[in-house]
Amino acid sequence: LDAALRQAATTALRDEPTQPKDELTTGALQEGKESQPPTLEGANEFCPELRPADPRHGDFQANGVLPYAKARKQNPRALAEKLVAALPDSLRERFDIAIAGPGFINFTARPAALLDWLAHYDSGARLREGAASTHGGERTIVDYSSPNTAKQLHVGHIRSMVIGEAICRLLEFCGAQVIRDNHIGDWGTQFGKLIWGYKTLLDAEALARDPLEELERLYKAADAATKADPAILDAARAELVKLQSGDAENLALWRQINATSSTAFQQIYQQLDIRFDHELGESFYNDKLARIYTELQDCGLATESQGALVVFHPEHPRFAKQPFIVRKSDGASNYATTDLATMLYRTEHFEADTIIILTDTRQTDHFEQLWLTTQKWYAAKGYRLPEFEHVSFGAILGDDGRAIKTRTGDPIRLQALLDEGIERAYALVSEKSPTLPETDRREIAAAVGLGAVRYADLSQNRSSDYVFKWEKILSFDGNTAPYLLYAVTRIHSIFRKLGLDPYTNTASAATAAGAASAPETEHELALARKLLQLPAVLQTTTEQLRPHFLCTYLFELAGTFSSFYAAEKVLNDSPGIQARRLLLCARTLLFLETGLHLLGLKTLTRM
Ligand code: ARG
Repeated sequence: LDAALRQAATTALRDEPTQPKDELTTGALQEGKESQPPTLEGANEFCPELRPADPRHGDFQANGVLPYAKARKQNPRALAEKLVAALPDSLRERFDIAIAGPGFINFTARPAALLDWLAHYDSGARLREGAASTHGGERTIVDYSSPNTAKQLHVGHIRSMVIGEAICRLLEFCGAQVIRDNHIGDWGTQFGKLIWGYKTLLDAEALARDPLEELERLYKAADAATKADPAILDAARAELVKLQSGDAENLALWRQINATSSTAFQQIYQQLDIRFDHELGESFYNDKLARIYTELQDCGLATESQGALVVFHPEHPRFAKQPFIVRKSDGASNYATTDLATMLYRTEHFEADTIIILTDTRQTDHFEQLWLTTQKWYAAKGYRLPEFEHVSFGAILGDDGRAIKTRTGDPIRLQALLDEGIERAYALVSEKSPTLPETDRREIAAAVGLGAVRYADLSQNRSSDYVFKWEKILSFDGNTAPYLLYAVTRIHSIFRKLGLDPYTNTASAATAAGAASAPETEHELALARKLLQLPAVLQTTTEQLRPHFLCTYLFELAGTFSSFYAAEKVLNDSPGIQARRLLLCARTLLFLETGLHLLGLKTLTRM
């Protein structure tokens, strides 16, 4: 549709001036040239702006005529009519086309076109092919998870992990070349205390038993000790200086602490099916920081202020006064320095077209300043500027509306949360299907428990905080993982009962052989039209980097399927009717499974 509209615009809108007449003439006069006939490029500026339509008006609506006509002071309705007249007959055969209001163009797929479309999308690969042009070839770095070492992962860490992973999978599906980078916080002043603690307070047995727990204990104990005794504070500082100047013993300890952390993180990544291409932590950039100071000073962006090196942005309401500190007054680098070096490395080494970083909303100022600085610095140096997105998210709240905590007020460990999800799901499954073998119930519990936690996070608009409630996220009603996973298993059972394979599916074969007739009843048409929306939903989801759009769609699709299944008998005396209904079942299954996998969920065939 999009391509057809653009093509029609090049012929239908060719005679329209690309700017209001008077401007054209004055411009031409000033340049001493004769007025040029409007060019084809002008017509090409037309952008169809296709959207899924309100179902009462059709399947898709093109809104692009309005802004186009307005810019040219033309009558939009007349333009829309010209455009529609220029559409090829092949399109008119597939869609009912109507102009509404001041120039919206509505497209309603005809039943035969719906059937063709459904028959075409017979595999995940076909869907991927269709989506691949949206982000075709864009080299995209996604920086997600990125926790700090020597600390446990807690509940709050899950958002970056699951939203980041979903964004990677979605962009990849839509054609991008995705590079996953875990930007571990493995360098910083905390290592002075950690190393001092490790050398003086270590409980080796505890370290072997639960490494992160012991490292956390050491850090807390060392921190308390430095506060109580200035001599210990000096000793911790000395350890940090030794580390920074390359002392072999401290470097070895630092490496060991990081390795211990990394092993513990891997367990959770594995459980959540997250794999990184790189783990270039903050320390990786240590030898790349000097260049940042030099370049920012050379191009006059950074100035000395009370011993520190800072960047102001005079045009910005806040950052005119609040500086971006790129080197502290004691000469040390900081988060800003590493992130500037990271930006450069991703531009030069990875040749990224797009850089995406996920953190919670509290870091918004940091990334705004980082991006303002980068734009000016790159412009001064003539570096190619990539696109940049700070994908930020809100907090996870407890019942009391405050950041979720254990009863003793400590952060909830992520591992404990995932374990609890699986246990609760196990109880649910055992209650619902007591006759299933234990191993099956375990497998289902893992998919449902982990899926529920993950989906609860993804289905919320990421910009907002949300309240975490087990009863809600494990419910079989509503926009939840259990509801969607169950919908998937229900479709599997339809095919199982018939002895058919839903994938190599008999339904498609029947369609190809002309056995399936076009959707006809109200519920068949509603389901077919809902299926038709998936490509547009994928596009919006990846444009806005908001997985909840896809969640909402999958939830609605499952609901539409439910109504269809309740109203229509799939098994039918007429082979044509049965084949088309099976086709609808098979496609709903394919779309639900594809969508859930993109979100990082494992699907099941029975529950
Ligand atoms: N380690 C940081 C934190 O825990 C997140 C790092 C995000 N990535 C980045 N390039 N700044 O808050």
